[in-house]
Amino acid sequence: MNAPLTDQFLTLQEIVAAARSNLAPGPWSYLIGGAETETTVRRNRMALDSLAFRPRVLRDVSRIDSSAMFLGQKVRLPVFLAPIGGLESIVEGGAASAARAAAQFGVPQMLSSVCQPGLEATAAAADTVRVFQLYVRSDDAWTDDWVRRAKDHGFRAFCFTVDVAAYSRRERDLVGRFIKPWRARAIEGAAFQAGLSWDQVKRYKDKHDLPLIIKGIATVEDAEIAVQHGVEVIYVSNHGGRQLDHGLGSTAVLPEILKAVKDKAEVWVDGGYMRGSDVVKAMALGAKAVGLGRLTGLGLGAAGVPGLVRTLELLEDEIRICLGLLGVTSYAELTPKHLASAPPANLPDTFSAFPLLG
Ligand SMILES: Cc1cc2nc3c(=O)[nH]c(=O)nc-3n(C[C@H](O)[C@H](O)[C@H](O)COP(=O)(O)O)c2cc1C
Repeated sequence: MNAPLTDQFLTLQEIVAAARSNLAPGPWSYLIGGAETETTVRRNRMALDSLAFRPRVLRDVSRIDSSAMFLGQKVRLPVFLAPIGGLESIVEGGAASAARAAAQFGVPQMLSSVCQPGLEATAAAADTVRVFQLYVRSDDAWTDDWVRRAKDHGFRAFCFTVDVAAYSRRERDLVGRFIKPWRARAIEGAAFQAGLSWDQVKRYKDKHDLPLIIKGIATVEDAEIAVQHGVEVIYVSNHGGRQLDHGLGSTAVLPEILKAVKDKAEVWVDGGYMRGSDVVKAMALGAKAVGLGRLTGLGLGAAGVPGLVRTLELLEDEIRICLGLLGVTSYAELTPKHLASAPPANLPDTFSAFPLLG
């Protein structure tokens, strides 16, 4: 009989190592890869690795609250499962398995419209706090139908991902000749995504009352336009470095966006978040929630639903330790003064958060 997961996985490093040995080369490269030179991927880590902590001491941290609010709902951590299109290639049950892990642990899930087994089956799989992300593949009436279905199935917000005007060149997939099983489905109607503009955002806001998230904001200029359109959530992201190569790290652009947005919208972020300390850094800068992309896939790849639950438990442990050592008992006490710029101690890359990996 296998040892319980609490014994099998004492660290996140072991989760990553297990995922790497379980996944076939194609799905592994799909999960961890980025666009072209993968410079944006490394800059995501570079931005996090370039922040150091300034801890405060002697502040009674015997009781720490690491829970957070997510669209008005209390959740166990200020993180959510970021949308992943091909989860069914990583874990049996695809998005339904992610939903089960999210519900079991107590964090929200953002479901991708291209992920199997689809909106209705994923919603039925578990009682999660959930939001829905759409890749636009047809006309406005088609989008409206997704909004209706999302609303009918308990999704609390609707998201357009907007950093996908063209599908990038993921060279690990190309070199490995990994033909994604969902490729045909994913590109059909892609011209509608390329044709998106702020007109569709305005149209959505005029027509629908489900809160709107714009995912893929990477500049302060676009954050300001989103605020003018009444968007509820500005999701700072470069798609984990999987789309535009040679972008800035998303945590590097976060401070100026937060400064401009103030409290006119919530700001969420993702890109390279692998550790509890990473999440605490985003919270200290002022983000409201952090999306976990590859880490979600790694947890599921390591040991399915329980593997992702264990991943979240380890992340929670790291977050609570980090908060206590910084001298705070909740995120509300964190400020940018808990952070300082510092040169990265290792060359940043996807796995620089896991130095023990061979
Ligand atoms: C395998 C994979 C598939 C993804 N599919 C989608 C998707 O369908 N929709 C979307 O908006 N973002 C997608 N993303 C981007 C993630 O939602 C998220 O922005 C990114 O992974 C965050 O960076 P991280 O992986 O370093 O945490 C995907 C990311 C990965 C790794």
